[in-house]
Amino acid sequence: MKVFHTVQEVVDWRTNTIDRRGKTIGFVPTMGCLHNGHATLIKKSVEANDYTVVSIFVNPSQFAPTEDLDQYPRTLKEDMALLESLNVDVLFAPSANEMYPQGIPLDVTKQRGPFVSVLGVSEMLEGKTRPNFFRGVTTVVTKLFNIVMADNAYFGQKDIQQFIVLNVMVNELFVNTKLTMVPIVRNDKGLALSSRNKYLSPEYLEISSNIYRGLSAASSLITQATESQPVNRDALLASIKSVWAPFTESGDFNIDYISIADFNTLHEVEQVKPSDKVVISCAVNVHDKISENTVRLIDNVVM
Ligand code: PAJ
Repeated sequence: MKVFHTVQEVVDWRTNTIDRRGKTIGFVPTMGCLHNGHATLIKKSVEANDYTVVSIFVNPSQFAPTEDLDQYPRTLKEDMALLESLNVDVLFAPSANEMYPQGIPLDVTKQRGPFVSVLGVSEMLEGKTRPNFFRGVTTVVTKLFNIVMADNAYFGQKDIQQFIVLNVMVNELFVNTKLTMVPIVRNDKGLALSSRNKYLSPEYLEISSNIYRGLSAASSLITQATESQPVNRDALLASIKSVWAPFTESGDFNIDYISIADFNTLHEVEQVKPSDKVVISCAVNVHDKISENTVRLIDNVVM
């Protein structure tokens, strides 16, 4: 595996080192601290493309001043061993200066220089709690796409709004990289794998798997509904909240949002029929009384 730290090295590789005629490049952008969720995306890319590029870059412009950029886990050595074992061709691990020559101020609202925004869908759900987050994501992904010029790029359903925002960006800015969404990878209890799970004690990892149990209660109501008898939003919300009740009452879970929305627009829906394409998504702050960490977890199911 080649390891590049500069933009020029990647550009040289794709223009001079490899013969791209009739060949495809797959790309998996990440922030490192790789787990089996990332590995699944990478395997998809390796299977489907002649070359696979993975980036590891903890992108400062998608962190709010209140979120600690420096605390984001960094495990480059282990990550590199995993990428080697998956037969990745190129790891691109740039510095913040390389990606943002004008620098990124701690307060991202004071960012100078160019950025890319997808207005509307970026302000909903995750965007309400994390203003400027998607602006950071769309900006860095645009930069990475322009550097790598991949044919295909792979993103996880885990961050479904990120996928939807990027899809709008790619379609409407006529970007020549095709996006593929890879289903959520979960542990044996159903908890979606996340770099943030590291901050939870074993007891709270177990408790957190109830997030998915709640979403699954709603999805089975939709499966049982019929075209003539759709299920109401209130019934779906109640089914999720009843699974979560012991944990919200004990203060272990603090719900940020539950959304039942159209898959393409993320507009909330009042009723769901089995033929509707909807996404049930949530963000829950888990207060771990053992590790004394509060961890914001997101999850979703697509119907
Ligand atoms: P990161 O959180 O490292 O995630 C990289 C990719 O892995 C994303 O597409 C994410 O959805 C996917 N992923 C994470 N956990 C997953 C799981 N349990 N199952 C399936 N896929 C999973 O998302 C980012 O980085 C950044 O915002 C980035 C796109 C790199 C831009 O900075």
